[in-house]
Amino acid sequence: MPATAILRALRADITTLAVDAIVNAANNSLLGGGGVDGAIHRAAGPALLIECRSLGGCATGDAKLSFGYKLPAKHVIHTVGPIWNGGNRGEPALLASCYRRSIELASNAGAASLAFPCISTGVYGYPARPAAQIAVATVREAVQLHAGIREVLFCCFSEADLAHYNALLG
Ligand code: AR6
Repeated sequence: MPATAILRALRADITTLAVDAIVNAANNSLLGGGGVDGAIHRAAGPALLIECRSLGGCATGDAKLSFGYKLPAKHVIHTVGPIWNGGNRGEPALLASCYRRSIELASNAGAASLAFPCISTGVYGYPARPAAQIAVATVREAVQLHAGIREVLFCCFSEADLAHYNALLG
């Protein structure tokens, strides 16, 4: 029976976390934006944008790996969440795919610890509670397949988001 990873929620600015990889809630261009994306680019410095230009964008539900530059995290995993459109346009499956692909890339990069923001729940409008349910369920399942991942942090920016995650994580 393999040891399972620790899943934990906390309230923090994701750019301050000293984990092996942080996940960015990016857009299809991977060329920066507002919200957590803007914060990550500001904290990492301009070298991140230069590397992102070479990544060729990213499909919704997929993820791409870069270095973290001036961040305490060694890597950034850029994923693109779905824009909420009522919930019947494949949004749940695409959001789950973001979490699954990010765990895969983190594992392939040799990361043991990673931190997720609440993907799609800001500008992209995904309701926070169902998004948290998908995040926790998908990560719980994905870490079973990637024994190198020891710790996953759900990095919440608001107290309300933290409450959703803590309720789900028990
Ligand atoms: N640390 C942790 N979480 C944060 C931080 C931070 N520093 N800043 C914001 N959040 P959003 P999306 C939370 O809008 O909905 C960008 O322009 C925020 O409170 O950043 O996936 C991209 O380029 C919310 O809970 O991402 C895309 O165009 C969560 O991060 C678009 O926004 C996600 O909010 C992506 O929209």
